Formats: sequence, C-alpha cells, structure tokens
Amino acid sequence: MIGTAGPGMQVSITGLGCKVPDRVVTNADLAKFVDTSDEWIVERTGIRERRMASETEALSDLALPAARDALRQAGVSGPDVDLIIVATVTPDMAFPSTAAILADQLEAADAAAYDLSAGCTGFMYALAQAYGMLAGGLAQRALVVGGDVLSRILDWDDRSTLVLFGDGAGAVVLEAVPEQGFLGFELGADGAGGASLWLPGSGSRLFDEPDKYVKMNGREVFKFATRILVQSAEDLLSKCGLTIDDVDLYIPHQANVRIIEHATRKLGVPSERVVVNVDRYGNTSSGSIPLALADAAADGRLRPGQLVLMTGMGAGLTWGSAVMRWTKEMAA
Ligand code: ACO
Repeated sequence: MIGTAGPGMQVSITGLGCKVPDRVVTNADLAKFVDTSDEWIVERTGIRERRMASETEALSDLALPAARDALRQAGVSGPDVDLIIVATVTPDMAFPSTAAILADQLEAADAAAYDLSAGCTGFMYALAQAYGMLAGGLAQRALVVGGDVLSRILDWDDRSTLVLFGDGAGAVVLEAVPEQGFLGFELGADGAGGASLWLPGSGSRLFDEPDKYVKMNGREVFKFATRILVQSAEDLLSKCGLTIDDVDLYIPHQANVRIIEHATRKLGVPSERVVVNVDRYGNTSSGSIPLALADAAADGRLRPGQLVLMTGMGAGLTWGSAVMRWTKEMAA
C-alpha cells in the first residue's frame, strides 16, 4: 500500500512523549544468564544496554506517562482526543485493549480506542491509520502510542534473542494543520516470511510444541531488514516526488546498528542525518521510532520545516515508511 497526502489533508504530529523503564540492563548483566559477552553484542548489534520493566510494570504503565507528555506538548487533554491507537505485540492483556485502558486513564470518554498488531512496524501502521481517519474527517485528534514490553516474551536461556530487545513506549498526538505534515506512507506485509520471527502458541492456533517466547531466524530477518529498509524508503520518496537528498532526518527502526548502517549506506544518507539510539535502548519494537523521534527532539535535530523519513520493519513480516515535513517547534 502506498499513497500521498492530497489537498486539504494536512495532518501532523503536534505532541511527542516517551517513557522507558528505570531498570538499566547492560550486556554484562545478560552475560550472567547466557553465554555471551559485551564484545560480541556490541560488534554484532551495536547495543550496549537496554531498559527492562520491573515485575509490576505493564505496557500501560509506560504508555500513560508518554501519552500525558505528548498531550501536554500538544496543549490538549485526554477528553479532547477522539481516537487512540496503541501499536504493540505485548499489551497489558489480550482484552481489554491497552488503548481502552489508556482511554479510561486519560478520561478520553469519546475516543475510539483499539490495539494494533504489526510487530515492530506497529507504530508506522498506526500513524497511517490515524492519518487516514483524520484526513477523512472521521476523527479530529488522535493519540498514537507505540510500545512494547518484550522482556515478558523473551527466553532468558536463548542468547540469540535475549540480547537484542528492550522495553519502552512513545506517544504522539496527530491533528490537522494548515500546511505540510505527513506527505505519504508506504506499508506492506509478507506473511510467507512470518515464521522467521514468531510466537507460536500465543493465539488460537494449536501447536504441538507451543512456545511462550519469541522465536527468530536472525539471518533471515537480517536479510529481510537490510532489503526492505532501502526498498520501502526509495519507493515512498519516489511516489512523493522526493529524493534522499531532500531528507533532513532519517529515522530507521532501531533493531541493530549493522542493519541501520547498511540501509544508510545504500540509501546514501549522510550519517549526521541518521538517528541512532539502539546502543542505549536495544530494539524496543513498536517503541523504537517514537523513542528515536524523542531523542532527535531532545538533541535539537527535529525542527519545523525539516523533511523526516521514518521506516519500520518487523514481525509479520511487515514494513512501513512515512515521510513528513515536521511542523512543530519542540520544547528544549
Ligand atoms: N552471544 C554470543 N554468540 C552468539 C550470540 C550471542 N548473544 N547469539 C548468537 N551467537 C553465536 C551463534 O550461535 C553463532 O555461533 P556458531 O557460529 O558457533 O553457530 C555465531 O554467534 C554467529 O551467529 P550468527 O547468527 O551468524 O550471527 P550474526 O552475525 O548473523 O548476528 C544477529 C546475529 C545479531 C541476531 C543478526 O542476525 C541480526 O541482527 N539479525 C536481525 C535480528 C533483528 O533485528 N530482529 C528483530 C528485527 S524485527 C523486529 O524488530 C521485531
């Protein structure tokens, strides 16, 4: 699916917030559980540490403060929101949705609220949905959350997955703006590749050997990720009549520094235009892109007028890109 924003369909991000758990888990900490080392993890992934939720923390405990910060920055409150989408594969529970829990906590009594599952691409899918609902006139103000507590579904005996992931959430407010904002989206899915990254036994399909934990074929996901980050971005820029030279800020899904460097090189983006924080947070799945946006805002790189390209990819296998002209002055 690919498309550009039409006349009269200007929607932008007007508020941004994020939240990670307090607990920092270093590579050395993980080496106490599995046969790994800081050297191996840094060399193969670029990850140095990640945050992990405490036993009592669930996704909504991260999503709520992130959402409150995003609403505050947008200058609105919960009751002003009429759409809440939470992109996640680790909701508090299967139902009620984390979005409905959040709607109650924020007193967004008139909001449609639902969770969305598209693996690590969830935030990109949710942005596109919220954009569509606002541009179509169905909603006036959306809260989009991307977040995961992947530490709950990691096997602490499996070094090939344990070292890659972390927990965190980000939230954005979407509203109509007079001009600029989102320019286009490209989204896709390849279910045939689904078994490269899956959680068999987590739903209604019965498996002989169900599993409580993430299963991943790292090499296959690596090949997919390096190909799709480039292809999705190039397809979208071309559809929008833009080139990579127009991009001021490139925000790829934060899975692995080697994947990011490969995409950056192939696309031809200068490194100073690329946001990388996987070293501090690991792969936070749906939280990854909003956390990177928040980092770019904090270091002053996210400014009105800049062309921002975001691309996510993950379980499904899924992928999604968005390109937008940033409109909001971010508070220091
Ligand atoms: N510590 C030490 N050794 C390890 C570890 C570890 N944590 N994990 C694997 N190894 C070993 C393997 O067992 C293997 O040993 P062997 O040669 O004796 O068999 C060796 O290291 C090399 O393994 P490879 O899988 O070939 O290592 P590779 O260089 O491919 O890196 C990695 C593995 C980091 C997982 C890489 O394949 C990767 O990043 N894949 C993409 C994963 C990803 O990003 N997934 C999520 C994206 S989608 C989403 O966000 C949900």
